[in-house]
Amino acid sequence: MPWDTPITLPDEVEAAVVQVMTYLVENEQAALVVPARLLVQVHPHFREVLQLLAVQAADEARHVEVFTRRALLKGDVMGTSSVGGRASLTTLLAEPDFSLASFLLSVLGEGSFLSLLSFLEQHAPDPVTRRISHLVRQDEARHVAFGVGHLEHRAKADPRLRGRLRAAVERRHDALAGTAGLNQDVFDALVLLAAGSWDPGAIAHGWQAVRQLQTDMDEGRRHRLARLGFPDDEAAELSLLHTRNFM
Ligand SMILES: [Fe+2]
Ligand SMILES: [Fe+2]
Repeated sequence: MPWDTPITLPDEVEAAVVQVMTYLVENEQAALVVPARLLVQVHPHFREVLQLLAVQAADEARHVEVFTRRALLKGDVMGTSSVGGRASLTTLLAEPDFSLASFLLSVLGEGSFLSLLSFLEQHAPDPVTRRISHLVRQDEARHVAFGVGHLEHRAKADPRLRGRLRAAVERRHDALAGTAGLNQDVFDALVLLAAGSWDPGAIAHGWQAVRQLQTDMDEGRRHRLARLGFPDDEAAELSLLHTRNFM
């Protein structure tokens, strides 16, 4: 089916799309602000890094726009936001160190989003949502590649960096320990999108698909942590400490 085929979905499925888009907009906004803020810290000598962060911020601004436009395509009300989700994104904005911020955002957060966007490309009910998930995933893959490449380079030059990365994950985990993690409305919307309907058998299938998504995210994080030189057991431990909000 072409991506620009007019969309007519059952109300509950459209509402699930709107909820997931709302969540994505909030997360993309944080992903926009972090590189924009880091830009001011970079010495002008590192021209390519300045260019890359500027393009990354522009990518995120585009992601905010396309997800907002999809959310409001059939109506004029966005989905819900949650205290736990906001708290998770606030901890990202609070990290002042360039390498630690790009570790939390790009390696762990956007890395997890690669799995989420693949999930949406596979399970979204309409061609336009599948298409924008695919296109945004391409951008995110670049952001993740830079984050991993940057930290791989730094960790080789200074093995003590890994201790600081570990401490950053633990600090963030402790700061979020009293929060609810992922917005329950987002979790339910993901289940419904994978299920396709409220039929109990379909919901069981959708729930299984979301569990598989969480497993895929965990595997991806462990793989990227291993690239930064973390032993397998430590990579597994740190991946589990990553925010339940995914980003
Ligand atoms: Fe993005
Ligand atoms: Fe990104």
